[in-house]
Amino acid sequence: MDKKLTIAEIRERKGSGQRVVVLTAYDAAMARVLDSEGVDIVLVGDSLGMVLLGYDSTVPVTMDEMLHHCRAASRGVQRALLVADMPFLSYQVEPAEAVRNAGRFLKEAGCDAVKIEGGVAMADTVRALIRAGIPVMGHIGLTPQTASQLGGFRVQGKDLAAARSVLADARAIAAAGAFAIVLECLPAELAARVTRDVAVPTIGIGAGSACDGQVLVTHDLLGLFEKFTPRFVKRYAELAPQVRTAIQGFRDEVAAGRFPGPEHSFAMAAEVLARLDEEG
Ligand code: KIV
Repeated sequence: MDKKLTIAEIRERKGSGQRVVVLTAYDAAMARVLDSEGVDIVLVGDSLGMVLLGYDSTVPVTMDEMLHHCRAASRGVQRALLVADMPFLSYQVEPAEAVRNAGRFLKEAGCDAVKIEGGVAMADTVRALIRAGIPVMGHIGLTPQTASQLGGFRVQGKDLAAARSVLADARAIAAAGAFAIVLECLPAELAARVTRDVAVPTIGIGAGSACDGQVLVTHDLLGLFEKFTPRFVKRYAELAPQVRTAIQGFRDEVAAGRFPGPEHSFAMAAEVLARLDEEG
């Protein structure tokens, strides 16, 4: 069994040249694949609201939904760190509530850390979580839970004031003790500047190649989420068309009586069958 990665080992990647590889998983099967392929951090992202649950945004995702999927993902992970995304309004109201909710991901769902969105305004909450013994990953730049306040899903930090504010957010979250910070949808130059500026690994998504690690939504990179593809996603596979072809094959073979064939069926001993026939 591979040794579990630690928070300290992720922090030590900073400046080491060894990038942190992060992907999302919402169930044990996918988490097992990511873990066995050497992904360092498995993130149970609240993106599951859009990718799996059919919501239009991550805002409606609940604690119960996140806990359910975190428990499942935790059964598939041995080496990777398992990070739970805290859903909207589970941590913003007050730090004590954030601690109570975050603690559930560690106590009840086998997670190693939580991720929360927000910069300067969340620094006290990050401190409270860490005081309670809960490791925190930050998430700044485009924060999907509050995207409507940011003018929608668009690149952040483009003008001087906005870039300064992103830097201030990164510094505040790093100073509060986060062990890593996701930088979402930032100009590559600004992400590089933040990466030089803070002492913890930055994990980019739409933030250029200078970050200390990268994250994508696994369903996006596999081409399984067909609704839209952000510019920053590279599709390493196109699985949705293959899934469709497979489903069509099953549908047509069932309709034509070609599935199951003898190779997918079980036979009965001839004498048992003969007795059954005798008995009518
Ligand atoms: O919810 C999520 O999957 C995320 C990643 C895209 C960083 O927050």
